[in-house]
Amino acid sequence: MGAGQRSTTPTPGGNDAWLARSLASVWHPCTQMKAHETLPLVPVARAEGVWLEDFDGRRILDAVSSWWVNLFGHGEPRIRAAISAQLAELEHVMLAGFTHRPAVELAERLSALAPGRLGHAFYASDGASATEIALKMSFHAWRNAGVADKRRFVSLSGSYHGETLGALSVTDVAIFRDTYDAIVLSNATVPTPDARLARGGRTPADVAREAGDALEAFLAANHATIAALVVEPLVQGASGMVMYDASYLARARELCTRHRVHLIADEIMTGFGRTGTMFACERAGVAPDFLLLSKGITGGFLPLACVLASDAIYAAFYDDDVARGFLHSHSYTGNPLACAAALAVLDVFRDDRVVDTNRAKGARWEAIAAPLAAHPKVRDFRRCGMILAFEVDSGRSDFARWCFTEGIARGILLRPIGQTVYLMPPYVITDDEFALLADRTREIVDRS
Ligand SMILES: Cc1ncc(COP(=O)(O)O)c(C=O)c1O
Repeated sequence: MGAGQRSTTPTPGGNDAWLARSLASVWHPCTQMKAHETLPLVPVARAEGVWLEDFDGRRILDAVSSWWVNLFGHGEPRIRAAISAQLAELEHVMLAGFTHRPAVELAERLSALAPGRLGHAFYASDGASATEIALKMSFHAWRNAGVADKRRFVSLSGSYHGETLGALSVTDVAIFRDTYDAIVLSNATVPTPDARLARGGRTPADVAREAGDALEAFLAANHATIAALVVEPLVQGASGMVMYDASYLARARELCTRHRVHLIADEIMTGFGRTGTMFACERAGVAPDFLLLSKGITGGFLPLACVLASDAIYAAFYDDDVARGFLHSHSYTGNPLACAAALAVLDVFRDDRVVDTNRAKGARWEAIAAPLAAHPKVRDFRRCGMILAFEVDSGRSDFARWCFTEGIARGILLRPIGQTVYLMPPYVITDDEFALLADRTREIVDRS
């Protein structure tokens, strides 16, 4: 028997059959595959709303919106219908030299919603490719402007911007980065304004001011070689839902402008209402030079990313010389089905007044979770819009994996980051479902 294979013959079509076949053929992401010798995969047959269902009909509440993408749960009928309608007209055409209605309408609508004058949409397929595009565009824009020395980037400690080599070079999460240190570009990090550092009478705004001071000192000394600052506005997701005061963003914008450094706002996770406004930058009244969008953009139906660039950036490439253009491309750039799904997502936001409705809903989630927040093992319980997070004082060294397993056994999908548990369910979760989620999470914390 090879690693991960099972000795019994599973029933065809049942959970065990798919589990065995998956382990034999699929290399799963973000996974040491050997761990699945003892940690069972969860085969999913179908899903609706907040519920995943396995091949034996057992249901699991998706409390992390499937890696933060399924904003409206699974199978939202309006998004599904929009993709079907688009399928009948045009499934794909290359976007170099051609154009189509969904790509144009989506670019126009995203640009109208985004802060500032971000009038130019460059499409890609996933978050990491959006980061790559913004880094290349930033460097190239400076180069076209005759400033070729700006070839490095700065990001916050604990930042996560994806895992392709360029994106990894501005990512500061050891488990993802350290192995590849020898082959990624060397960039700089500045201190995070993590609000949990506000202890002993210091407020989150004090921490933000100190982190802003560090950024100011860094840019004053290094602006000649720094093309851009890359930030996850308000919440650093993958390093443990690190939340920070909006004043940091306003200061970062002012410093970037003063030192001629681009500001790249990576809203791949925070965008589309997750932090309480359509885009997190709005909370600080800030307009970046680049806005990166993906994940929730299609509500979890199809892969799509979009880099919105400012008019000034676009102008830096507009020339008779081909090589001064941005020649980057991906085969599926601007795929019509994905753009149609994204347009349907924007329709749902408009028709259901999602951002307004979520304001009260987020507050209700917090109130429902109050007994969980008060548990003696829970530390730094926090909320930013539709994200709740806390640390668990547990003696278990394998806490994240243990908690995941306990969650699955109780029919809830939790995916802690180290000791940090977060609840980021689809916006459509009912209060009763959220109460069930909070209750079962509390049971797990209690046993930890
Ligand atoms: C802030 C942020 N940027 C970039 C990415 C990378 O996106 P993708 O996984 O689609 O490559 C992620 C993914 O979690 C993210 O949270």
